[in-house]
Amino acid sequence: MNLRPDLSANTPTTIENANVTVVGGAGHVGVPLVLALAEGGNRVNVNDINKDTLEILKSGRLPYIEYDAADLLTKALAEKRLVFTHAPEQISKGGPVIVTIGTPVDEFLNPVRRVVQACIDSLLPHLADGQLLVLRSTVFPGTTDWLHSYIEGKGRKLKIAFCPERVVQGYGIKELREMPQIVSGTTPEAEQDAAALFKSIAPEIVTLTPTEAEFAKLFNNAYRYIEFAATNEFYLIARSAGLDYQRILNAMKHNYPRARNIPRPGFAAGPCLVKDTMQLAAYARNQFGLGHAAMLINEGLVLHVIDDLQRRFPLDTMSVGLLGMAFKAEVDDTRASLSYKFKNALTSQARTVLTTDPYVNTDPDLQPLGDVIAKSDLMILCTPHACYKDADFKGKPVVDVWGFLHGANVIR
Ligand SMILES: NC(=O)c1ccc[n+]([C@@H]2O[C@H](COP(=O)([O-])OP(=O)(O)OC[C@H]3O[C@@H](n4cnc5c(N)ncnc54)[C@H](O)[C@@H]3O)[C@@H](O)[C@H]2O)c1
Repeated sequence: MNLRPDLSANTPTTIENANVTVVGGAGHVGVPLVLALAEGGNRVNVNDINKDTLEILKSGRLPYIEYDAADLLTKALAEKRLVFTHAPEQISKGGPVIVTIGTPVDEFLNPVRRVVQACIDSLLPHLADGQLLVLRSTVFPGTTDWLHSYIEGKGRKLKIAFCPERVVQGYGIKELREMPQIVSGTTPEAEQDAAALFKSIAPEIVTLTPTEAEFAKLFNNAYRYIEFAATNEFYLIARSAGLDYQRILNAMKHNYPRARNIPRPGFAAGPCLVKDTMQLAAYARNQFGLGHAAMLINEGLVLHVIDDLQRRFPLDTMSVGLLGMAFKAEVDDTRASLSYKFKNALTSQARTVLTTDPYVNTDPDLQPLGDVIAKSDLMILCTPHACYKDADFKGKPVVDVWGFLHGANVIR
């Protein structure tokens, strides 16, 4: 497998000479991976059914906020390391194919394997026997071994690997450079080839069996989600005692190593943490008590805040401004953002609900921060974007679960 093709002639990358394909390459996980692979000396076939995001990338822009990625994209385009394709028949036969498509849970919070199956069915006729197929999307435990048997059952011989993405959204470029890569394969050859591939971008390789690796990814995310739930529940208990949890948390963590990693309270949301906790719950036949409890606490925090506001304020006479609609700070992604749960719940209770976010450009209802401050009687810090730290809220009350803002008008 030639992972470092000679680019001295500055030959444009084509479907034929690309040495790695990323299916779902224009997605949130795909983009940083594509750029890291290009930076690692590869020619990358960026394969995605979304032609709009491919066009954005092709033009040298990023479809989403991804820190440290802009220069890498410019460089990769200048060096002609990328080719953009949108159909399964356009994947390259000459190297590994990495799948980074979305893997949702359904309305019953169960994983939907047919999404992976449909994607593989579409790719299979265009994959060569012996080619390495890497699942990188987060999958239900057992999926990789199932895929191996499924493909063998069709009389095909591919090398199947599962190498989960564990970067935090928006900071993929930095984390891909710094974090170990978990690698697994359904055969020693698949594991070896996948390890060789990821050695071109990751500082360290850790090998597991495929099912171990699938659990490692889900345990990582579920653990994080439970950590948020623990601190959120502490917050609620401290509040019920009339105390400022942030003061207590600061004291708990001060020069006390065992508490160093306790996160601040806040709205734990986004496309991965709840979904992956629920995948684990589905695997455990819904006997994942901590996971379910975490969901009740993290999702319920929004409603606790609203109940509390109802007791303190005549909400039906007030305009409430929501600050931050992205699911976390300094990104533009609104997928599974609890800010929208706030908006829905408050719409029936407040006179008006106003929303703002400096990064989100997909929501026509958003207004500039200054307008929201001017028109609101009360504000809620939904997402702790840095720009809110020093904003002038004109002395109006701002609810801040995060312990992020300071001032006499801040309600914790
Ligand atoms: N977002 C994160 O920070 C993150 C981190 C770690 C792991 N993950 C996991 O990675 C996977 C992808 O997540 P994401 O946030 O990048 O999703 P996304 O929706 O941003 O990206 C998925 C991309 O796949 C494309 N796609 C879907 N089906 C396709 C097909 N059949 N052929 C070609 N392209 C196809 C979509 O057009 C989209 O661009 C999920 O399993 C997710 O749980 C996400």
